[in-house]
Amino acid sequence: MNSLDLYERRALEILPESIRDYYRSGAGNENSLSWNREDFNNFRIRPRFLKDVTERDMRLNVFGSNPSFPCGISPTAMQRMAHPDGEVASVRAAQNENTVFILSTIATTSIEDVAAAAPKAIKWFQLYIYKDRKLTESLVRRAELADFKALVLTVDAPLFGLRRADLRNKFSMPQHLTLANFHHQVSSMGGSGINEYVAKQFDQGIVWDDVKWLMSITKLPVILKGILTKEDARHACNIGVGGIMVSNHGARQLDNVPSSIEALAEISKEVNDEIPIFFDGGLRQGTDMFIALALGAKMCFIGRPVIYGLACEGQSGVENVIKILKREFDLTMCLSGVKNLSEICGDMVVHKNYYARL
Ligand SMILES: Cc1cc2nc3c(=O)[nH]c(=O)nc-3n(C[C@H](O)[C@H](O)[C@H](O)COP(=O)(O)O)c2cc1C
Repeated sequence: MNSLDLYERRALEILPESIRDYYRSGAGNENSLSWNREDFNNFRIRPRFLKDVTERDMRLNVFGSNPSFPCGISPTAMQRMAHPDGEVASVRAAQNENTVFILSTIATTSIEDVAAAAPKAIKWFQLYIYKDRKLTESLVRRAELADFKALVLTVDAPLFGLRRADLRNKFSMPQHLTLANFHHQVSSMGGSGINEYVAKQFDQGIVWDDVKWLMSITKLPVILKGILTKEDARHACNIGVGGIMVSNHGARQLDNVPSSIEALAEISKEVNDEIPIFFDGGLRQGTDMFIALALGAKMCFIGRPVIYGLACEGQSGVENVIKILKREFDLTMCLSGVKNLSEICGDMVVHKNYYARL
């Protein structure tokens, strides 16, 4: 298969209904879910020519690591529902393609097993803050010990969003799987479904001081995932976090929030290079990556395309998804007159209204 859309189409055909719906769906009427994809079409690339693009370099430096290109794997829960190898397959794909893999707190493979499966991969750990702070702190220590390079604190999920398909299907993790980062009471959903699990375990009371608390207990950079406004971005800069990820959680939390790509411009203007901005949501081709970078992201991430690659072909499916994006992004650089990432600047991408005003 030679596009991310083909992987998606095939995966949606072969996955069992309730798992397919869990992976695919968004919140509410899925307006933001559609916008995440559609809004890339509101932007136009302004290519420049006659600039010798024989040699192109997509590498970057992020927290001391050097991914081969600016797109990594977003944290997605319970990957062993998509394929028996789950997170092990994804992290090995990330290792082979030399890009960042972010492990979800609610993964079906533990921090330690992921580290052992791909010792050379660039690994970050996504954290939810549990009501039990000792448990939360122990996750941080385990990620540090396992050589994870950053913590990604998801701030947009005090509860999970209204996902009607999951309610209809009474979605719960299959019995043979566990949430591998936990023992005993928090390792299974006890048949009660994911929303009840989250309501019971996650701390709905977290505030900015809890981010400071997290920063005080670790030397790892802390990235806030789920920022959608310039106001929260300013707050994040002021308390000195390691970075932010502009993301609407794959449109799974609150419907009618802006698409991630729509939110990016106001945030990068506010942040003005004080801290790195990461990006995910709806990205499906090389030109999407280019648009996100031109609007201020340092690096992009993909969520569902990795799950769909896994569902279709396991590790090699994920590798192929990454390879496709790499080829498409390289071609976009070549055809827009760019030799390296620092040349992708703001005036290379405009909102389509730019042309209406001429
Ligand atoms: C099935 C699924 C599970 C997810 N699980 C998590 C998670 O455990 N933690 C988290 O921070 N984000 C989670 N996300 C959100 C992703 O990290 C990411 O923000 C989103 O998938 C990006 O959009 P995309 O799927 O269009 O690429 C999940 C998304 C999906 C689709």
